[in-house]
Amino acid sequence: MMIESTISVIKADVGSLAGHVVIPDFIFEIARKSMKEGVEKKIIKDFRVANAGDDLELIMTHQKGEGNPDVHRLAWDTFMKCTEKAREMKIYAAGQDMLADTFSGNVRGMGPGSAEMSFEERRSEPIAVFCADKTEPGAYNLPLFKIFADPFNTAGLVIDPNFHQGFKFVVQEVEREVPAYLEMSCPEEMYDLLALIGSTGKYALKRVYRKDGMIAAVVSTDKLHHIAGKYVGKDDPVAIVRGHSGLPAMGEILEAFTLPHLVSGWMRGSHSGPLLPVGLKDSRCTRFDGPPRVIALGFQVSNGMLVGPVDLFDDVAFDISRERGMEIADYLRRLGPFMPHRLHDHDMEYTTLPAVLAKYKDRFTEKEIGPKGAKKDSSKSAD
Ligand code: F6R
Ligand code: MG
Ligand code: MG
Repeated sequence: MMIESTISVIKADVGSLAGHVVIPDFIFEIARKSMKEGVEKKIIKDFRVANAGDDLELIMTHQKGEGNPDVHRLAWDTFMKCTEKAREMKIYAAGQDMLADTFSGNVRGMGPGSAEMSFEERRSEPIAVFCADKTEPGAYNLPLFKIFADPFNTAGLVIDPNFHQGFKFVVQEVEREVPAYLEMSCPEEMYDLLALIGSTGKYALKRVYRKDGMIAAVVSTDKLHHIAGKYVGKDDPVAIVRGHSGLPAMGEILEAFTLPHLVSGWMRGSHSGPLLPVGLKDSRCTRFDGPPRVIALGFQVSNGMLVGPVDLFDDVAFDISRERGMEIADYLRRLGPFMPHRLHDHDMEYTTLPAVLAKYKDRFTEKEIGPKGAKKDSSKSAD
């Protein structure tokens, strides 16, 4: 019998230890207890709880489809219970992403981020869940492009007849209050796709599927500052990617993260830095509140249950990427407040620039300014 399973990954920053560094153990315990109650009440079938730096990640399976109000309420209530304890213990930025007062059916637009995917389970169903900290949804544009469109990353695009025809990509214009979506096809529209998704702050990949409609990847694209109307923290997005048997292999999926590419969201959401692929033991942001990092948890979905995880980046094979990433981080830090380490004015999450400009408004002049007392025109003074 075919089983339609849904994976819902819902995440929020409910507060963290010693600044925006890591989720404390007592928050994990509350989250696990609440998720267990969700299983007992038959809201979800299975779950795992993890952290990407200061973000709490609820990985849930069920058979209720995407956007299910009971599943979303369970996640919301779990975050609220964690927030309550976080406030009591005065841990930092308690309830940071809990932007609404009351739950209204779906966590979307209320602060937490979510990525959900439904599919009929294949004979065997390997997936990877990626969770990033100190960055934005567009951080996944480059790796997802590599996985599903770059033959130099994914050998299967060239030699596996099951996906030699390519994939479809759903691009979301994330800067708009009301998001707009565009479907593009690769390899036919590859250059046009790249023209858009290279602007990682403006366009984010939302979904990828095979040309026969088989879902392959989904990303949380919720933008916190649209919801709050101001900077409250980075989106710190998650992604779910299915692998094998007619889709890229797990090794091809992970290969795309070996380049620690530059992403926005480091320190105060206003700097760029390399995205380090790390194991769970290194899922904590320290240096300059970073550098931005991503964890990868591998599972088999089996009759709606999760088998795993495998801590996929906790491997010597990624040491070289981490070392390269730290070299890049070290170099960028030397630039201090200068671009391109500091983001362009429009992309900074906080800035003093308008206040600085207002302060000096009346001292701007269209005449070039020289040292006081100097003659204005040196050619005349030579006579
Ligand atoms: C938070 C983050 C941090 C903070 C920074 C300042 O997710 O990215 O870099 O922006 O630590 O934090 P506050 O404003 O709370 O003092
Ligand atoms: Mg935080
Ligand atoms: Mg975070």
